[in-house]
Order: sequence, then structure tokens, then C-alpha cells
Amino acid sequence: MTRPLPDELASRLRTSLSAAGLEPPAGLDLAVVVSQDLRFGDYQSNLAMALAKATRANPRETAGRIVAAFDPTGLCAPPAIAGPGFINFRILPEAWAAKVAGILRDDHCGVPPAAPSHRIVVDFSAPNVAKPMHVGHIRSTIIGDTLARVARFLGHDVITDNHIGDWGTQFGMIIHGWKTILDPSALAADPIHELLRVYKEVNALAKADPAVIETCRRELVALQQGDAANLAIWRQCVEVSKTGLQRIYDRLGIRFDHWLGESFYNDRLAPLVERLRAAGIATESDGALCVFFPDHPRLADKPCLVRKADGGFLYATTDLATIDFRLGEWNADEVWYVVGAPQQLHFQQLFEVVRRTGRNPRLVHIAHGSILGQDRKLMKTRSGDNVQLVDVLDEAVARARAVVEAKNPDLPEDEKQSISTAVGLGAVKFAELSQHRMTDYIFSWEKMLALHGDTAPYLQYSCVRVRSIFRKLEGPAPAFATLDPAGLVLQAPEEIALARQLARFAEVVPAALDDHRPNLLAAFVLELAAAFHAFFAACPVLKAGEPARTTRLALCAATDKVLTTGLGLLGIGVPDRM
Ligand code: ARG
Repeated sequence: MTRPLPDELASRLRTSLSAAGLEPPAGLDLAVVVSQDLRFGDYQSNLAMALAKATRANPRETAGRIVAAFDPTGLCAPPAIAGPGFINFRILPEAWAAKVAGILRDDHCGVPPAAPSHRIVVDFSAPNVAKPMHVGHIRSTIIGDTLARVARFLGHDVITDNHIGDWGTQFGMIIHGWKTILDPSALAADPIHELLRVYKEVNALAKADPAVIETCRRELVALQQGDAANLAIWRQCVEVSKTGLQRIYDRLGIRFDHWLGESFYNDRLAPLVERLRAAGIATESDGALCVFFPDHPRLADKPCLVRKADGGFLYATTDLATIDFRLGEWNADEVWYVVGAPQQLHFQQLFEVVRRTGRNPRLVHIAHGSILGQDRKLMKTRSGDNVQLVDVLDEAVARARAVVEAKNPDLPEDEKQSISTAVGLGAVKFAELSQHRMTDYIFSWEKMLALHGDTAPYLQYSCVRVRSIFRKLEGPAPAFATLDPAGLVLQAPEEIALARQLARFAEVVPAALDDHRPNLLAAFVLELAAAFHAFFAACPVLKAGEPARTTRLALCAATDKVLTTGLGLLGIGVPDRM
């Protein structure tokens, strides 16, 4: 019995349907779900009701026939019928024991690999360069990284690609500023900072003087036409920005397989547009080239512009070339875009154009909401600037450091540092991942950096707590990887509840990808920690007699493994001590 419990129950339900001579209508969902009220059982199915409705039979009677033919051996008590025809399953203690042993044996904690495995490109973070990442970039960066980790864990072939905006109109201003107000020594000392200063200053000048705008526009056109001096400046800006970005990703433990930014596609835009025109997909309109969607319910009046009348290409053109590359060169089955909700129309148009070309990959816009300031407008500091991501990370680590100093002043310096880093950055990540990705939320230092309540530090501390049990263990720990489930005897309700939560990991991890919702996984690890603390308060471990002692040690070891793995999928590390 290595399948997740709902799958195992569904498969036995299928067998009992045919044994009872009941023919399920095609497409009937046998989905077995976790019970809302655990007094009635651990899992529940409304199969009998759905079947009775389709065949105009009596639901309770149908449930009776299914239950009578159901073989519960080794898995659950004989199922019970409740209310209008729900079928309730109570899992047997020995089946929970088998789950716990299975988790300890398997390096994927009992989570089955996805079948079939897909090649998935995950496009996330993708900031526009030459401006530092601000706090708003945290969402795509952290959600995207987690989704990529989960997909990889499930056995998909994942390619992460940072599609940075390295060819935008911002370069007109930056090149003009570089030529007129750059301070070379400041650039050498802190390049990102100096670039930002230049950018902001030119921005302010441009607001006051239209002539500056015109100069910047000319610098941009010169760059686009291949002017050697401007290209050299551009190249330096991109290099400097990438170095700064890499430093942030390193701190966050985020790795990209590729950094194919917008500029990578420059040479591919003209031929792409020509192909679309030749295929009759793009048509001319007032000198521009557009793709029209006359029959589309939402896009009928929203054509996708692929070449402007002046010959310039657009964000959408670059993204079309990017899709061609990912499908053609990388043979991707799926492309996921973790990008804010305001770009929804852009992606709808993009995906529709791809469909027009006769291809049908799975393209998903994984949208997310915004981070707002206290006034519910887009996040700005009092000076009007965006809060920079680096500052959030620094502050998080500093706050964690203060707590470590207070609690554990005698730890060696390097350990203090590594604990503060894991705790501070973990807090920032968890604050993001525990929200539904579509909610807009108000930025709050308190919330993002909280160390108490439903936070990463609480979860990390829970792991440390479990591990401390093993540190106190006298004599060798049981050989968990080869444990015989027959030696595990679960009795106390807290033991059962903990085992139930551990077994749910196999259900939650795939579910987090169904709708690309890392918050399901975040909620799961919180519930697991709560189940552990309830267990640990009620059930002594080291002082218990056998078989309780081995059983409880196994539950502790499985908790450590699942919590650590679950936090790892959220990109959150666990220190040994706290
Ligand atoms: N650079 C864009 C921005 O900051 C996001 C790019 C997202 N990815 C893409 N393939 N369009 O808004």
C-alpha cells in the first residue's frame, strides 16, 4: 500500500462498484476527500450520491450496496454510511503505522512521482534591470522558486529561466545619465546604487524638461540601431545589474538554469513577425502589424500588436519569440509564468497567438496580487521610493540576530550568523508563501518579519525540538529506514492524529501544483507542527515502555523528515539549534 490513502480508497471503491454490479457513468469522479469532521472518519466519499443521481436510484441504498461489496482488509474499518449517503472511512492503526514506516523508508516521504513527467519551463522573478529589485518583486521570486522546487520534487523536468527586462526604454535615460552625470568612483564603489541614482536623477530632469526626454529617446534609438558606444554602456549596466541580482538570489538560495533576458531575442523578432504575417496570423492595420481575435469572447476588441507603425517591436513580440525558443529548442511541454495579475491581458493574447500557430502546449499565467502600502496604494516608502528587497532581507536577518543574541549569547559567531540568516530569510519567505497568491496585502515589517505565531521560525523551532529528542537518546536510534511496521503500535488519539497529518503530505504536495498554490503546503506544515506539539504534550517519548517508545520515536523521526522536506520545498532551511 504505497499509494496515498485517497487513491487506495478510490481504487478499492472502483473494485467494489464492479463487484456490486454498479456501472459508474463515464467520467465519474471517485475522489475521496479528507473528512471535515474527524468524528465520523478520516476520509469521505460522496460517490454513492453522485451515482444515485446519475441513475435515479436511492442514494443511501446505493451506498449500502457499495459498502457491502467493499473490501477494507488491512486498510480501514468497514465503511459507515452517514446522512444522505456519504461513505465514511476510518483508517486502521496498522495502516497508519504502514504509512509512517513508508515515509521513513522513502526519500520522497511517500509522495508518488507525477505521471507523466513533463518538461516545464518556469519563468519567474524577471525584474527589469538597471533598477534594483524592490519589495514587490518578492512575490514572483519566492512563489516561482517554490513552484519550481515542488515540480522538481514530483519528478518533472524543470527548467528555470530568468527572463530579465534587459532591453527596455529605461536604457534611454540610463545612457543619457551615464554620459552626463555618472560619478565613476561611486560606480566603482557601489554600482547598483550609482545606477539607481543616475536613473532617478534623469527621471526627475525629464519631468521638468521635455528636451531631456527627447535626448533620452535619441539615445535609446541609437542603442537599438547598434551604436557602439551606447551598446558598450548598455552591456556594462546589464553586467552590473546581474551581479547585484545574483547576490540576492544567492542569499535566498534561488538558482536559475538560464538567464535569457529580452535582449537575447532581439535578432529573432523580425523573422518571427514575418512568419506571422506570411501565415496570415498577423495583419496590417494603420501601418502596424496586429493579431486580431474577432471570435474570442474576451479579446475581440483587444488585438495583440506585434510591430508598431515605426517598425519597433513590443514586449509581446519578445514574449512570442521566447515561447518559440522554449518550445522549439527546449521541447517544453509546459511554460509557467509567475507574473503579477496586471499582466493578465498580455498573457491571454500571447497564449491565443500561440494557439493560432497550431501548437497546443500548456501555457499558464500564474498570477499574483500586489503588495500595498499602508494607504492601500502600491508600496512606496515615505520618500516616494520603493522599499528595496535587499533592505527587507537585511532587516529580517538583523531582527532575527537580535533574538539570537538575547536567547543564546554564548553561541559561536558563525552559528549565530547562520541561525539569524535561516530564521530571518525563512520568515520573509513564509510570510509570502502562506498567503493565497492572488490576495493583495499591505506590507508590514511586523508581519513579514514576525518570529512568533504562524511563522517560519515557529516551524524551524518545531524541527529543532524534534531533533533535540534524538540528541537525548541514550544508545542507538532505531534503524528507521528498515523499520518493520508491525513493530509500530499507534494507540493514543494524538499519535493517530500525527500519523494522519504525516500521511497527508502525499496528498498535499501534488495538490499544491493543481492550482499552483504554495499556500496549501504552507498551511500543511503549520498543521503538522501543531499535531506534533499536541502529540509531544500528551505522549512521553523517551520514558515510554515498548512498543510505545519505538512507535513514538518513529513518529518523531517521520515528523522531522516531513517538516524538513516540506520547509525545503518552500525554500526554507532548518538550523540545528535555535
Ligand atoms: N520584466 C517583466 C516585468 O518586470 C516581467 C517579465 C515576465 N516574464 C515574461 N516572459 N513576460 O514586468
